[in-house]
Amino acid sequence: PLRLEARRWLQTKLSPPPVAFAFDIDGVLVRGSKTLPCTAPMFKHLLGDNPFRRQIPFILLTNGGGVSEKARAEALSHAFQAGFELKPEQVVQAHTVLKKDVDRYRDKNVLVLGGKGDEVRRVAESYGYRNVFTTLDVLAWDSGVWSLHQITDAEEASAKKGVNFTETPIDAVFIFHDPRNWALDIQILCDVIQSGGRIGAPYVDQGHKPVELVFCNPDLIWKADFPQPRLGQGAFKDAFQAVYKSLTGQHYPYVQYGKPTKPTYDFAREALAQQFKEIYGSMPEETLFCMVGDNPESDIAGANNAGWNSTLVHTGVYDPTKGSPAHTPTQQAEDVFSAVKQVLIEEF
Ligand code: G3P
Ligand code: MG
Repeated sequence: PLRLEARRWLQTKLSPPPVAFAFDIDGVLVRGSKTLPCTAPMFKHLLGDNPFRRQIPFILLTNGGGVSEKARAEALSHAFQAGFELKPEQVVQAHTVLKKDVDRYRDKNVLVLGGKGDEVRRVAESYGYRNVFTTLDVLAWDSGVWSLHQITDAEEASAKKGVNFTETPIDAVFIFHDPRNWALDIQILCDVIQSGGRIGAPYVDQGHKPVELVFCNPDLIWKADFPQPRLGQGAFKDAFQAVYKSLTGQHYPYVQYGKPTKPTYDFAREALAQQFKEIYGSMPEETLFCMVGDNPESDIAGANNAGWNSTLVHTGVYDPTKGSPAHTPTQQAEDVFSAVKQVLIEEF
């Protein structure tokens, strides 16, 4: 076989195929800890064994996250066993889009929710956020914030020490990934918001909303190992808003990122354009962007709104025995490999 560099050089001399794919992860490529059997053969097809006889650019576009894109790319490359290494810039997670907001919050205090320990703190810092706190930092500061949970040694070890949160006003809260301890996180989120950012300080008038609230994944449910779908970050958001409304009679305003929102699909389009540039030097004007997903509310709705081709697969959240999907895809397919072959045959 040609040396890798020679193959790469040859590739740039070829004209790019006018098609690119964005693959959802949970319920399409994997289900919980298990990789679906059609995933590896599908990637081999994309990497050259297809009617274009050349590599078709692709990214992964997920409402999941909690770790860096580099760590996720390494973990998924190992899980897929498809004989290639995913590049970090090919993995667009729920919070990856927050890379574009760093300048706005560079010198502000941000509280990040979700994921394990201080993993999302490290992700936020890798994006350039500087003053990043977690709800475990708050619990380590004063166990009375939520006395019903005894902080574990591991949680204590992951917490920033010596921060006085009444003197350290939180300017924004980012729900990076799915919170693990909803009770602790909803309690602290309500404290931050009701005290105008200063946890423990007297509550302020809720007419003024100084604390910005950003959610990165609207999924009410998602497909993991369990036979029935599991509650996602969208369910956490509903739980918080219900508690806040009971406390104050109000709904708290927030920014929503993640599929199906436009900022996330705009970001994904940029990531695909980057793949074309790296492989072929340019992207054809008339490129067909194809989303393959399992959740009509996020994957199909977002792709349709973005003017992309969309395929709904039957390996995840959507159950074809339960009637038509809430959002109509361009086509449906049994699984991700059938989806890719179907698009390439029907569209080209
Ligand atoms: O937390 C992950 C879940 O909400 C959905 O992930 O890959 O199906 O967008 P995905
Ligand atoms: Mg999914």
